[in-house]
Amino acid sequence: MVKKINACVFISGKGTNLATLVKSSRKNNFPLKIELVISNKKDAPGLKISKRNSIRFKYFSSKKMRIFEKKCLIELKKREIKFICLAGFMRILSKDFIKNFSHKIINIHPSLLPKYKGTNTHARVLRNKDRFSGCTVHYVTPKLDSGKIIKQKKVLIEKNENEDSLKKKILKVEHAIYPKSIIKIFK
Ligand code: GRF
Repeated sequence: MVKKINACVFISGKGTNLATLVKSSRKNNFPLKIELVISNKKDAPGLKISKRNSIRFKYFSSKKMRIFEKKCLIELKKREIKFICLAGFMRILSKDFIKNFSHKIINIHPSLLPKYKGTNTHARVLRNKDRFSGCTVHYVTPKLDSGKIIKQKKVLIEKNENEDSLKKKILKVEHAIYPKSIIKIFK
């Protein structure tokens, strides 16, 4: 059994990646214990996943990012969090915040980075008539979606693909590579 490191997952929405990480964290060989979930959306459906799994969760408004980050840092320190996974967290963390967790914050992004940084990835991929898309797990740096890539997985875009079908297809792959990326980091 590996000695688990306390981790926090940051979310803004559904939290399907959070659910996968929670499930993985129950396994003996998974390096993280999900000790805390932070949402910047009060009604993020993902918060129900933390409740259901008896994981401590916090909501902090991100209207003012400086205040949001300050509150997060206090909580992260209190819970002895040493690693952060962003999972559908829709705000950009500041350089000063990231400095506190250098090389200890990762994110999952629904495109083959460095292509399609930012939002609306699926629409842009389809508009450009790309043959492939996919997802990427990467380290978080102050530059949006630009940190070192940990893992990436391709999916083929079908002829009749639409935004919704592509999103679903990629999300399924995300759920497979996010836990694998974490195992890879701690190997
Ligand atoms: C995922 O597609 C992730 O790559 C992106 O936001 C989505 C979050 O989905 N950053 P969920 O909240 O984990 O279901």
